[in-house]
Amino acid sequence: MAQILNGKELAQSVRNDVAAEVQAWTDSGQRPPCLRVVLIGSNPASEAYVRGKEKDAREAGIDSETLRFDDDISEADLLGVVDRLNTDPSVDGILVQLPLPDHIDDRSVIDAIDPEKDVDGFHPENLGRLLIGAPSFIPATPFGIVEMLKRSKIETEGMRAVIVGRSNIVGKPLAALLMQRDINATVTVCHSRTRNLAAHTREADLLVAAVGRANFITADMVKEGAVVVDVGINRVDDESRDKGYRLAGDIDFEGVREKASWITPVPGGVGLMTRAMLLKNTMNAARRHAD
Ligand code: GUN
Repeated sequence: MAQILNGKELAQSVRNDVAAEVQAWTDSGQRPPCLRVVLIGSNPASEAYVRGKEKDAREAGIDSETLRFDDDISEADLLGVVDRLNTDPSVDGILVQLPLPDHIDDRSVIDAIDPEKDVDGFHPENLGRLLIGAPSFIPATPFGIVEMLKRSKIETEGMRAVIVGRSNIVGKPLAALLMQRDINATVTVCHSRTRNLAAHTREADLLVAAVGRANFITADMVKEGAVVVDVGINRVDDESRDKGYRLAGDIDFEGVREKASWITPVPGGVGLMTRAMLLKNTMNAARRHAD
């Protein structure tokens, strides 16, 4: 039976570390790190993420505010908002919550964020820096996954890592991160067109699922003793719950936990680490701007 990679405890320890850093920072006479989150429209999942990010940031002593706009905001107006935040010297970190409405091009907005304030690490300059092994801001989910492994003392040297999902915010940056010299995994990235997916996943010492389909990875696809990391947060209809749904990961938790050596639950796994690493990036942004 797998040990649980407890996101609740691990994220709490990251948050405590950041809170102590922020305290030392302000004790030394600096202003608190300043994060501005931009939220367009009223997507319930985005609302929930942003509330969580804001709560964590405030508890860590970070000055955090969410700027909200209707979903009919024009791309030009949103770019104007980003530009104001870019040029405002009191702002350290900018996060534009995704997804954006269909009439706005995500790429144009991400590209417009000052790479020095891009605490999501989604700007091409920051992704490029990660790829060449000179990272500045690392996207929070991949960063959080690696932090979980490190804090749990899971040895990654020479590991065969298989990532299912090739998104720009999880799969691709995680592949770059796991290849780095302090991790030294051998990385395979699978996606929706991969032939015989299970043949790949069964080879994985470290299996990461980031596909957005509930219970997609089943026990027969997992090697005995694998470390299994679930990035999925899927809403599944459940009439027995007040909200009418429950959250399920991309991993069939009950089946896979019988085979894995370590496994992340959903909820209470990677999601909390993602939130915590945003705080770390925001603290780092404040340091860079003070230099
Ligand atoms: N939407 C889902 N995850 C994320 C994230 O990590 N950052 C942003 N900006 N939007 C998201």
